[in-house]
Amino acid sequence: MTTENTVLYKNIVILTGAGISAESGIRTFRDQDGLWEEHRIEDVATPDAFRRDPALVQRFYNLRRAQLRDPSVQPNAAHMALAELEKHWEGQFLLVTQNVDNLHRRAGSKNLLHMHGKLDQVFCLNCDEHFTWVDDWDLEAPCPSCGKVGSVRPDIVWFGEMPYFSDEIYAALEKADFFVSIGTSGNVYPAAGFVQLAWKAHKIEVNLKDTEISRAFSEHFIGPASVEVPRLVQAFLEVNKE
Ligand code: APR
Repeated sequence: MTTENTVLYKNIVILTGAGISAESGIRTFRDQDGLWEEHRIEDVATPDAFRRDPALVQRFYNLRRAQLRDPSVQPNAAHMALAELEKHWEGQFLLVTQNVDNLHRRAGSKNLLHMHGKLDQVFCLNCDEHFTWVDDWDLEAPCPSCGKVGSVRPDIVWFGEMPYFSDEIYAALEKADFFVSIGTSGNVYPAAGFVQLAWKAHKIEVNLKDTEISRAFSEHFIGPASVEVPRLVQAFLEVNKE
């Protein structure tokens, strides 16, 4: 971290994307072997897709959900370092993730917002109840709350839908004096625009390579998240200890 940062920060906002979970064995979306290479967004990740072919969409998310039950998929050093940072930090801390996996939660992060939903949750279009759901969802199963069949969908924010928690996120970005974006390609808005909204903040990007939005950041940690995030957290706590 550069010496200009030898100030005490108060309000941290961290944004994470698929890259932070890549080393845990969860595929990203837009890298060479990314999910969108194999599946068309409009077939599996839009409200229209669910109306047209709910079975295909449920199958796609059942496969993703199965990964969360795979014992080899565990939080990596980057998830752990962010949880440690939160634990040792007395100022405001908000972790916003675009990821729908549960690895930040399993690493111990607390003040965490899943802006694109959660893989281990479903909700009913009929009664609007949200449920934790870790197993496969069977399309013929009735909603556990209202009993309607065929109305339960993954609790994932699909393309064309409004991300969750916008008010809380924008309020935190407005106050942020330290903003870090980790493992996201900067292709999907509104998350790709958060760096602009954190106008007061010192801005750091962690990624394997330059992204669409790299120019908006003042510092870059280039390399795998499992190495760069612990390095960044250690440097940050060192500089900011009282
Ligand atoms: N360490 C750091 N960065 C990595 C690593 C790694 N080990 N592996 C990959 N990356 C970076 C890639 O270089 C890329 O910039 O992570 C980024 C992943 O980009 P995307 O696949 O586009 O994922 P993300 O930015 O999270 O996608 C945003 O798009 O499809 C939607 O809803 C989905 O939340 C997702 C959103």
